[in-house]
Amino acid sequence: MTKYLVSINDLSVKTIEKIFSLADNFNSKLENKEPIDICKDKIMATMFYESSTRTRMSFESAMFRLGGKVISSADMGSTSAVAKGESLIDTIKVVQNYADVIVLRHFNDGSTMLAAENSDVPIISGGDGAHEHPTQTLCDLYTILKEKGTIKGLNIALCGDLKYGRTVHSLAYGLAKYEANIFSVAPEGFELPEYVEHRLKSEYGREVKKFKKLDEKIDSLDVFYPTPHPTQTSKAGRKKKITIETESLFPMVPIENFDAVYITRIQMERIHDGKEGVISYLVNKELLKKAKNDSIVMHPLPRRDELSYDVDDDKRAAYFRQAAYGIPIRMAIIALFLGLVDFEIEKKDIEIFTISKKCPNSNCITTTHENVQNKYIKVNGLPNVYRCFYCDQETIQNIESKIDQTQQTWEK
Ligand code: NCD
Repeated sequence: MTKYLVSINDLSVKTIEKIFSLADNFNSKLENKEPIDICKDKIMATMFYESSTRTRMSFESAMFRLGGKVISSADMGSTSAVAKGESLIDTIKVVQNYADVIVLRHFNDGSTMLAAENSDVPIISGGDGAHEHPTQTLCDLYTILKEKGTIKGLNIALCGDLKYGRTVHSLAYGLAKYEANIFSVAPEGFELPEYVEHRLKSEYGREVKKFKKLDEKIDSLDVFYPTPHPTQTSKAGRKKKITIETESLFPMVPIENFDAVYITRIQMERIHDGKEGVISYLVNKELLKKAKNDSIVMHPLPRRDELSYDVDDDKRAAYFRQAAYGIPIRMAIIALFLGLVDFEIEKKDIEIFTISKKCPNSNCITTTHENVQNKYIKVNGLPNVYRCFYCDQETIQNIESKIDQTQQTWEK
């Protein structure tokens, strides 16, 4: 059985379906107030290096509802030995002795994979930097199935910050697994990363149709250029505002095309390249007048200005139901990864190349751990392109001259 869930790509559709049927089962037990105690002798640790409401609290609530116990650090950076400079690897090697399963959220891309490599207990990602958020995707896919009855063939728009938003990266792969049609709707500079698009193409044969905006009336997009230093973006008086007229810049896509519109906020905390976009009311009541009657509006939450509060009383607003599904879905994930249900997760063989070149992603966990080898996986169909084993960012490499070690096999 696999010992980690760090990417939605770790799970086959068969395993995802198993999680959904377990979730259905737990849900009906909860509704009937039947006692569940399959985790009564188990402990789950939640290690959160970034803020969280839904992911951490729904995981903890799920474990309590399974009859288990929880040890939690909601702010690892300031309340654990991390504040004394302890590395992620050392912390994991210690905490694995205290718990049977670890849920980890960390600000570095690829951190959950590094943790999984160094842990004897299952690691479940609660989000790693701008990389992925697989358990959110399980909630998202489950929501679409519950609301629409199917995912295959649906037209789904992923909107907002598709560059730094980890939920949309995982969701794009999840939708590809279910053969949905994926549309990206993102302002300039916030499009899906190339590595996500390449993986959608090379592993799932899916192309993303790209647009800049939905067809609401928006006159301008405010872009803030922080000065004098990118890390000071939130301080008043430190940013210079310029306004770009959008009329000519933004090819629009009519909202009536979509069965589901998935909106995300701009991930301000991850933007250090001097650019900060503000999306004003990307989806509001007025815009929804043009949407299909049976379409749904989704959001991983928290929301900012991109989703108006005036949408909340529309029956198509599915985001609070989506958040509520976090309980049965995470109960199912915990039960599965603790090996408490009769189901084997398939093993996959992956060829790993160890190359002397550092990962090009400055937020990759490998940049913080000197002793970690740089491992890559070949990207199918793109000659000499390799993606980082931890964070998925791509690099071009001539393996003939640069490879240090031959292939290894990592068994999942
Ligand atoms: C998301 C996250 O943390 O990536 N939140 C969540 O887990 N539901 C989305 C976000 O923070 O914008």
